Amino acid sequence: MANNESREKTSAQPRFHQRAAEIQAYGTVSHLLPLELEELVRVEMTAQLNQILADTITLRDLYKKSHWQVAGPTFYPLHLLFDKHYEEQVELVDAIAERIQLLGGVSIAMAADVAEITQIERPPRGREAVPVQLSRLLDAHQIVIRQTRKLARRASESTKCKTIWFTDVVKR
Ligand SMILES: [Fe+2]
Repeated sequence: MANNESREKTSAQPRFHQRAAEIQAYGTVSHLLPLELEELVRVEMTAQLNQILADTITLRDLYKKSHWQVAGPTFYPLHLLFDKHYEEQVELVDAIAERIQLLGGVSIAMAADVAEITQIERPPRGREAVPVQLSRLLDAHQIVIRQTRKLARRASESTKCKTIWFTDVVKR
């Protein structure tokens, strides 16, 4: 009997349609990481990083849409350029998502969830002219840059507050 049980546990047979409760909810951070960063700071930082992640994923996809749909006399150089930028955004998406996980958070991942929170305007499904494609990409970059600068300032303020607080405690 014991043999049968252990065979069942180690079976190579795939088990389909398994569902269970999440092991960590979106918007929470894990308590158990030895990061020496308060939970509230990590919740705030991971929420804002998820915003940047959603916008970067959208920007990445906007580059692929532009790569596929570009038309006209500048087709070839733009087709190549859009794909180059797409690849760069792929790397950024991975770096941001993994930073969120390292802070104990949960990275946003699926297109439907990303679509709900991105600040980048949804383009039409159809093909647009090159100046419009370029303009949309510029607007999207601006949104990401604005958000990133805001978060960098906030992170540096948090560190300063912590240092001042820490220095104060040590002096006492
Ligand atoms: Fe391609």
